[in-house]
Amino acid sequence: MKLVSLFAILSLAIFTTATMAETSASPSPPATLAWAAQHFKDTCSSCHGADGAHPLPLPGNPPPIIAGQYQDYLVQALTEYRDGQRQNIIMAPQAKDLTNAQVRVLAAYIANLPTPLHSLPRPEFGH
Ligand code: HEC
Repeated sequence: MKLVSLFAILSLAIFTTATMAETSASPSPPATLAWAAQHFKDTCSSCHGADGAHPLPLPGNPPPIIAGQYQDYLVQALTEYRDGQRQNIIMAPQAKDLTNAQVRVLAAYIANLPTPLHSLPRPEFGH
């Protein structure tokens, strides 16, 4: 009987600690367009440029222009950095805490920025 109570108390203590750990972690902010704009400004613009089109010319691994990139491409890139399929020591920590919803809305925000990206002439195809 005593052993059972001890077990019950221990389980309760473990459960309480686990629950407290869960609730003390700051909840993820909602994935709105306003959040994406602010997050881009606070976190991404230092390397990719305030407009996503004028990245810092970092030697070795320069950040690419991302403004106006296709949204599905951005979603894939960010998800792969986050989950480790695309390995990059700079981008992995930038993506690691993003939820799927945040990745999607951040990608929408970036895809919607005016872009200097363009296609080069393709003489092989006659244009
Ligand atoms: C400290 C600099 C830095 C910061 C901050 C940063 N990036 Fe990057 N980003 C890079 C570099 C460098 C690369 C190229 C990595 C590679 O070679 O895979 C990159 C690549 C990317 C790519 C892939 C582009 C492509 O053409 O494949 C995306 C998307 C991206 N960043 C989005 C973001 C977003 C969104 C944020 C903010 C949450 C952010 N980055 C913050 C430096 C940075």
